[in-house]
Amino acid sequence: MVTVYDVAQACGLSIASVSRALNGQSGVSQATAQRILRTADALGYQPNEVARSLVAKSTQTIALLVPDITNPFFPELVKGVQSVADESDLLLLLLDAPADAETLRPRLAALRRKQVDGILLVASALGGDLGDLIGDTPAVLLDRGHSGSHATVGIDQEAAGYTATRHLIEAGHRRIAHISGPSELSVAQARRAGWERALREAGGDADDTLVVPGDFEEEGGHRAGAVLLSRRPDITAVFAANDMSAIGFLALCAERGIRVPDDMSVIGIDGIQLSRYTTPALTTLAQPIRELGETACRSLLARIESRSAVADVTLPTRIVPGASVRVRGGSR
Ligand code: RIB
Repeated sequence: MVTVYDVAQACGLSIASVSRALNGQSGVSQATAQRILRTADALGYQPNEVARSLVAKSTQTIALLVPDITNPFFPELVKGVQSVADESDLLLLLLDAPADAETLRPRLAALRRKQVDGILLVASALGGDLGDLIGDTPAVLLDRGHSGSHATVGIDQEAAGYTATRHLIEAGHRRIAHISGPSELSVAQARRAGWERALREAGGDADDTLVVPGDFEEEGGHRAGAVLLSRRPDITAVFAANDMSAIGFLALCAERGIRVPDDMSVIGIDGIQLSRYTTPALTTLAQPIRELGETACRSLLARIESRSAVADVTLPTRIVPGASVRVRGGSR
């Protein structure tokens, strides 16, 4: 293995000068630094990252933990984080970490042993204080927040449920059912609360027969939709807590000959690419997914740099009108 000593010998310089040039530090002329870098490259010198990290007290590595890499929302989020990590020449470790403390605990402990510089976590259903899970590693939560002391970058989840439901109400619907996310998740509870608030404000009923929990996946949307249709055949619209659940419900409607939007209007949340290519195209409340990832990573870098707390960041959503919501005459 080629070492700094070999490069110094080949250049006829001291190890100190060569180390400064290889680490981009001052104290070496531009011409000499260029000569050292060319020689190191020619010899095939590879910096010893472990040694470098001990000196710099940084591994130049951050970790991102998401609950379900099979959901198209998360790869888009990863791309946002990755783009900012690349700007800072950071290695990004991605972990598919289902949202429960017992699964997360060993993975977070391994990241601490690896001395990652920072952690980005989609917190999900974690109760209690994250401190005992994350330790003193700088961390920022993204997408799904938590009541603890860590900053969160995401959307206003209750307002998202409210806005999506309002879109159906403004289209003349009142009997609006809700396929929620997994009941134990705070993000699902918040979106359901927004659905309830919008309906109550409009004088509609938001009773429990109109809500069935899904699993944030197509299968859960299909299954919950079947329960809703048997329990409440009078509904004219469904607000699904995310696009994948809405897509599962669209498939159920197609199987049963229920015309969307003529017989049934449907709206989701996320704005994943797939929602543009369903039949009909899904109307959805889009999250700025990539921007969420970018902003969370920038917050984490600021947190690492300052060694002090950073603020929560709430990003806006927007309705992306597809063809799955029909404006109805009269009140329905
Ligand atoms: O589709 C996955 C859902 O879980 C999204 O709505 C996102 O907010 C995440 O929390």
